[in-house]
Amino acid sequence: MAEKNKRPGRLSAEKEAELLRVAARARQQAVAPYSRFRVGAALLGRSGHIFSGANVESASYGLTCCAERVALFGALSSGERGFLAVAVVARAPGGAMPCGACRQLLAEYAPNAVVLVADSRDLRRFRRFTVRALLPGAFRLRRRF
Ligand code: THU
Repeated sequence: MAEKNKRPGRLSAEKEAELLRVAARARQQAVAPYSRFRVGAALLGRSGHIFSGANVESASYGLTCCAERVALFGALSSGERGFLAVAVVARAPGGAMPCGACRQLLAEYAPNAVVLVADSRDLRRFRRFTVRALLPGAFRLRRRF
């Protein structure tokens, strides 16, 4: 089936809970001395491996890298290709939605993924989105990598 027609598959409740737990644990490693807003992310790769990351900030604020991108770059540079889901955990009512930059990268490298967003204080109450819904009309070069 053409990649663009693939529908995000539903994960088991156990897998979703595991992914959220891994993201919450990764959040504890956030390096966020400027905003003090700590975020953790966990990506489930097609291989079954889970790759996590946390946000890392810079004194030159614009160099900050979000948890989602840290996790994604780690996964890609470990050789993973194709992702089923990404969990994002922050201490905020309803959790924190991925920023525009992260949405672009997810649209490029995890277009079929489900996005789980949770408040670290209650991982059981999470919201579910698709990458596709979060960034309709994502920029694409014609060339495919
Ligand atoms: N941040 C993330 O890591 N992921 C998000 O989805 C939203 C924002 C980080 C970037 C920065 O370190 C801090 O949260 C405040 O913006």
